[in-house]
Amino acid sequence: MTSRPKIYAIIPAAGSGTRLGGPTAKQFVQLGETPLLVHTLRRFEETSQVDEVGLAVPENTIAEVEQLIGRYHLNKVSKVVAGGAHRQDSVYNVLRLLQLRPSDIILVHDGVRPFVPAGLIARVIAECGVHDAAVPAVQPKDTIRRSNGGGFFDQTLDRTALWLVQTPQAFKAGVLIKAFEKALKDKFSATDEAALVERIGIKAKIVEGSHDNIKITTREDLDLGERILARWKVTADT
Ligand code: C5P
Repeated sequence: MTSRPKIYAIIPAAGSGTRLGGPTAKQFVQLGETPLLVHTLRRFEETSQVDEVGLAVPENTIAEVEQLIGRYHLNKVSKVVAGGAHRQDSVYNVLRLLQLRPSDIILVHDGVRPFVPAGLIARVIAECGVHDAAVPAVQPKDTIRRSNGGGFFDQTLDRTALWLVQTPQAFKAGVLIKAFEKALKDKFSATDEAALVERIGIKAKIVEGSHDNIKITTREDLDLGERILARWKVTADT
């Protein structure tokens, strides 16, 4: 009898972004009393379906990250590897080390999205089981207009057809490996894995995302993150 497919999470956290102003790369800044990356890893630690987590970080932080993993008992993290020049390279550095079967499921999640609700992780896993690829997204609330430059608008886009894409994005391992192999062969790069998978003809199922599931990039995002954290704590304590 074959065992059930395993569920892996790959967390790219190897960016050097310091747009938050300080010298610390954003994945290591404190959110409340805990480093941002630890919050993100806890979401997967607490999701019982996830078996293993692989992490890509800047090479010069590997020892520090291994210490954090020990201190915060992040027992599912099985690999901490050096990231690459771009997010896609960082994901691949983890992907190529995993012992995968085609039916396993891989979640790819930005290290700087600490507020992914457990229910959303469960939903992308379930939809991936049916559709081979599932991606969370929310619809824009603002009107979206295109400018071709020159300081004037040229076109108003149909907001109902547009989605703001989030992570975790879930893929069957066989599909994701094939998509990465084709991207490598074609030297194609993109900002998420859904774009790679589309190129091998797989349509990702849209899963309603969460407005809490923000990507922390700027100081304003970090301030918003502190407020979300306070709200999550109140909910957990009541
Ligand atoms: O670059 P961006 O803000 O889209 O980063 C999304 C995630 O990808 C972050 O968690 C960042 O640390 C990670 N990243 C990476 N390797 C890179 C660049 C970004 O793992 N070379």
